[in-house]
Amino acid sequence: MNIGFFDSGLGGLLVLKAVAKALPQYDYIYYGDTANLPYGDKSEEQIYELTKKAIGELFARDCLLVIVACNTASAESIRKLQDTYLKEEFPDRKILGVIVPTVEEMIDTGCKRAVLIATKRTVDSGKYGRELEKLDDSIELVEVATPELVPLIELGEDEVAQSAALKVLERETREGDVVILGCTHYILLKDVLQKHFASSVTIISQDEVIPKKLSQYLTKHTEIAEKLSNTGKREIVLTKHRPDYDRLTAEFLGGVYMPE
Ligand code: DGL
Repeated sequence: MNIGFFDSGLGGLLVLKAVAKALPQYDYIYYGDTANLPYGDKSEEQIYELTKKAIGELFARDCLLVIVACNTASAESIRKLQDTYLKEEFPDRKILGVIVPTVEEMIDTGCKRAVLIATKRTVDSGKYGRELEKLDDSIELVEVATPELVPLIELGEDEVAQSAALKVLERETREGDVVILGCTHYILLKDVLQKHFASSVTIISQDEVIPKKLSQYLTKHTEIAEKLSNTGKREIVLTKHRPDYDRLTAEFLGGVYMPE
């Protein structure tokens, strides 16, 4: 069986790329809901329905495990999907999000203060704060919605997005803080931010967190790892294709498959 990855767009490919590098033996299917991007300003109900549909598509493609790489979908929908949809219809499958592992990684740094940048929907959900409180109530978390960044990155305006992110973080961070890039698109900003802040802040990016956490998960859950196939397959399914996606998808997996 396969490992599925879901994101609202192509940003999650950066997470999958890092995962496939760390665990190259497994078979991966990526589902990007490009027809409905962005999720960041959609309602909770819309995000729930879209996430359920995407996960259903990945289960239908024989995915045993689906990683919801999208923070916005992780924030709003996963718990509900695990408690109802999964239990009732797919009790032998798993859905994993990215928020809890990211919060754990933040706690492991030993920081006292963290600044999260994410979509409006992720920030409004309060999910990062709730998960942090369960594990460690001594860390101050500052959550900043940066709704301007996804549209800029989507338009290929990376430099404008980088300056906008720098402006926000220069205002919000203090020496010794952790910065969480709480959106798959923001992984593209990581290098510039890291260079700018150097060692004064620690940047947590999910392309570094998720490979490590998934590897630990599969080592712990041998009953799942044993069922995963090992042919090194990589597939991308997008709900809407745009010619400029070809370069990104080809760079990684060499092909896009439209859903039927
Ligand atoms: N991929 C989404 C996330 O990680 C952000 C993009 C969107 O708004 O759809 O939160």
